[in-house]
Amino acid sequence: MKVVVAKDAGYCYGVERALRITLKATKESPKPIFTLGPIIHNPQVVESLKARGVVPVHSIGEAENGTIIIRSHGIDPKIAQEAKKKGLRVIDATCPIVKKAQHCAQQLIEEGYDLVIVGERKHPEVEGIVAYARNHALIVEQPSDLDNFPHNKRVGVIVQTTQPFEKLLLVVSKLLPISKEVKIFNTICDATTARQEAARKLSKEVDVMVVVGGKNSANTTRLAEICRAENTTTYHVETAEEIDPKWFSNSATVGVTAGASTPDWLLEEVVKRLEKINSS
Ligand code: F3S
Repeated sequence: MKVVVAKDAGYCYGVERALRITLKATKESPKPIFTLGPIIHNPQVVESLKARGVVPVHSIGEAENGTIIIRSHGIDPKIAQEAKKKGLRVIDATCPIVKKAQHCAQQLIEEGYDLVIVGERKHPEVEGIVAYARNHALIVEQPSDLDNFPHNKRVGVIVQTTQPFEKLLLVVSKLLPISKEVKIFNTICDATTARQEAARKLSKEVDVMVVVGGKNSANTTRLAEICRAENTTTYHVETAEEIDPKWFSNSATVGVTAGASTPDWLLEEVVKRLEKINSS
């Protein structure tokens, strides 16, 4: 059985950066160290950070003193101000690509556009962007959300970094015929597209796909969906221990990929396990 790893797999730049900032904080910043929400959607990494004294909290209210780290998704700037007022040291690990989306939203509102955000209403990144738009934004999850959108408006469009480009196109093509003007910032992140394209391509070439990453990670789950959509048998695992050799009894090739929040060591452990199955 041949084991092939996808061309683009594992940590993206923003997640790697957030983790680097967090590890630096464990050495240099006032303790205790908190993260507002898990710093990364990967339970194994969150556990290993806990062992170094990094505790995820749901709200500023749970952090009495020390340092709080804002994760790569970003947050409502008012929350950061609140934390500073409490006397906490605030370290901003928002991904620069998400920051760009926040600033584009702010700019469009200041220029008087009606803002449309293509993305998931409940995603923390979108909640943060909405706050930068002073809560004046329509969130569009599906093009049908625009069915009652008023005509003849000057519309500004931005998009959650992890959304598919096709969805942005569908939304824009629905807005163009009914609007006076449409100004678009394509704020989609290349890292997501590259991982999705690599997973799609590989799943067409192999018998079985193994997708490695947190079950709570939207981008990892999406990779598994993309592979299944190619009619390739796909297993989503968090660790190498979950792998059952029976999955590969009739397979000549197995593809492996990992979400943007999956560390290299988890991906490598899975590859090693597959190679071991191969040789036994
Ligand atoms: Fe940033 Fe893109 Fe990763 S927006 S957090 S580099 S998926």
